[in-house]
Amino acid sequence: MMPLQVLIDVDTGVDDALALAFAVLHPAINLRAVTCVAGNASLDDVYRNTRAVLAVAGAATVPVARGASRPLIAAPRDAAHVHGRNGLAGLELDVPEERASDVHAVELMRQQILASPTPPVLIALAPLTNVALLIRMYPEVAARLERIVFMGGSASVGNATPVAEFNTWADPEAAAIVVESGIPTMMYGLDVFYSAAVSADDVAALESSSRPVAQLCAKLFRHLAVKDAGQKRIPAGTIAALGDAGTVCSVVDPEGLTTRRFPVSVCTDGSRSRGQTIVDRRSHRGESELNGASLGQPVDVALQVDAGRYAELYRRTILGTLES
Ligand code: RIB
Ligand code: CA
Repeated sequence: MMPLQVLIDVDTGVDDALALAFAVLHPAINLRAVTCVAGNASLDDVYRNTRAVLAVAGAATVPVARGASRPLIAAPRDAAHVHGRNGLAGLELDVPEERASDVHAVELMRQQILASPTPPVLIALAPLTNVALLIRMYPEVAARLERIVFMGGSASVGNATPVAEFNTWADPEAAAIVVESGIPTMMYGLDVFYSAAVSADDVAALESSSRPVAQLCAKLFRHLAVKDAGQKRIPAGTIAALGDAGTVCSVVDPEGLTTRRFPVSVCTDGSRSRGQTIVDRRSHRGESELNGASLGQPVDVALQVDAGRYAELYRRTILGTLES
C-alpha cells in the first residue's frame, strides 16, 4: 500500500520530538517535510531541536523550514516550564548543518503539497500560525490537503487557562482561520491528549534498546514523567503522556480513536475565554442560532482514545518491532 503523504508542523518541544521520531519510523508514513513555528519554545530553539531529532531518527534529509516567529496577533508566550531551557528537556544533541536552500515554512508546505502524488495530511502539533498563513496565502493549494489534523483545543477543560488549550490559546486567530477554512479538520485535543500514555515498562524497553532514537525517546519520556508526576491527567499505571505523538498515532491507526463531528468555533475576543474551542455538543439548536448566530464549522473532535493500543503502537514503532 502507498504510504500516507504527511507534512508536520511543530514547535519542538519534548512531545513534538516524540511525534517526529514516530512519524519517521512508522512505515505507513512518508514524511515529506517538517515546518517550524514558535510556540512551546522560540523559533530558533524549535528549528534547532527539530533538525537534531530528525538526525537522531535517521531522517536528516527530510526538508525542514522556519516559519512564524510569533503568533498572528497575540503576544508570544512559550512553555519553558514544561519543555525545559532549550525546549528539549535541556538535552544537548548534535545539530546538522543548515542548508543554504532553506525556504520559509509556508513556501515549503506549498511546494510539498503541489509535489505530493496524493493529497497529503497536514499534522499540526503547535500554534496554528504557519497553517493559517498557508491558508491565507495559498488557499487553492491548502484546499488540496486531504485533511488537517491538529493537536489543540478541548471539548472540556483547558490547560493554559481553565478553558483554553495551549496551542489554541497561543494563537487563537490562527486557530479560527484553520477551523473556518472549510478544509476537512480533525481536532486531537485535551480530551485525549493526556489519556494516551506510556507505562514504566514501555520506557524501560526503549531505554534498553541499542537504537539511539529509542534512547532519546526514553530520555524525553523520563523528563515528561517528572512533569506529569502527581498530576491526575494521565491514567493510573502510566508515567508520561504521548501528547503530540498520540496525534500522529491517530493518523496511522484511526481505529484507536473515537471521534464525532461537531460544530466548532474558536473564541478570539479579549475575554477570559480567549483561545477556547467552543464545541457545540448540543442535540438541538438554541435561541442564539434561532436569532442568526453561527454554530461553528464541522470538525471531527477526538473524544476517546484506546490508550494501551497507542502506547504499544508507539513502543513497537520506535523499537522497530512492528512486524514481529
Ligand atoms: O497543550 C499541550 C501542549 O503540549 C501543546 O503545545 C502540545 O502541542 C504539546 O507540545
Ligand atoms: Ca507541540
